[in-house]
Amino acid sequence: MDVLKKTILSEGKVINEGVLKVDSFLNHAIKPSLMKEIGEEFAMLFKSNNITKIVTLESSGIAPSLMTALSLDCDLVFARKRKSLTMTDHLYSASVHSYTKQVTNEIAVSKELISPEDNILIIDDFLANGQAALGLADLVHQANATLIGFGIVIEKSFQPGRQILEDKGYRVESLARIANLSNGTVSFEDATIK
Ligand code: G4P
Ligand code: NA
Ligand code: NA
Repeated sequence: MDVLKKTILSEGKVINEGVLKVDSFLNHAIKPSLMKEIGEEFAMLFKSNNITKIVTLESSGIAPSLMTALSLDCDLVFARKRKSLTMTDHLYSASVHSYTKQVTNEIAVSKELISPEDNILIIDDFLANGQAALGLADLVHQANATLIGFGIVIEKSFQPGRQILEDKGYRVESLARIANLSNGTVSFEDATIK
């Protein structure tokens, strides 16, 4: 997605070989016009899949998910993160370990918010090691809903997330795929930008 790639190049900050900071439009501030185009792109990719609900994870997954849900005219649910969970009878929950942050969070969604009739698109801001994505998929499966696939805004293709999801047979659509962050610059898998 060219406008996203351009914005990553102009506003992204390479922190080190593993981490890209994109606070100005995705993780701390939101550019509404860019987010609208992101939503339209995901909607185009999944328009034939009868998506009834988008499932994402607070907080940075919510903005792209909202714009996509608006475009697809479907519902949106965001899983919540907690250090630990109590009183879980009414929740589907999963443990998500972050290699980047070296913390494990519980993620959870109320059982009444996902039903077996739902066709689910999972959206997230980053795909790195795939643990958040797997946790979200776990919640969808606990609800006996149908998981159509994953929409990722920025994929770090040099980390194992995509492979882990594809090995499980999941469809993964990423709007920007980063091959590496070497030499302080962003290199995309597909270098062409129109
Ligand atoms: P994983 O889910 O793929 O296993 O990822 P990981 O544990 O490595 O990432 C944990 C958090 O860091 C996630 O956000 C994820 O989106 C984010 N993240 C991973 N790599 C990068 C990166 O290169 N740049 C940026 N900006 N973020 C990255 P989170 O903790 O869920 O936070 P948020 O959704 O509240 O923003
Ligand atoms: Na994040
Ligand atoms: Na995230």
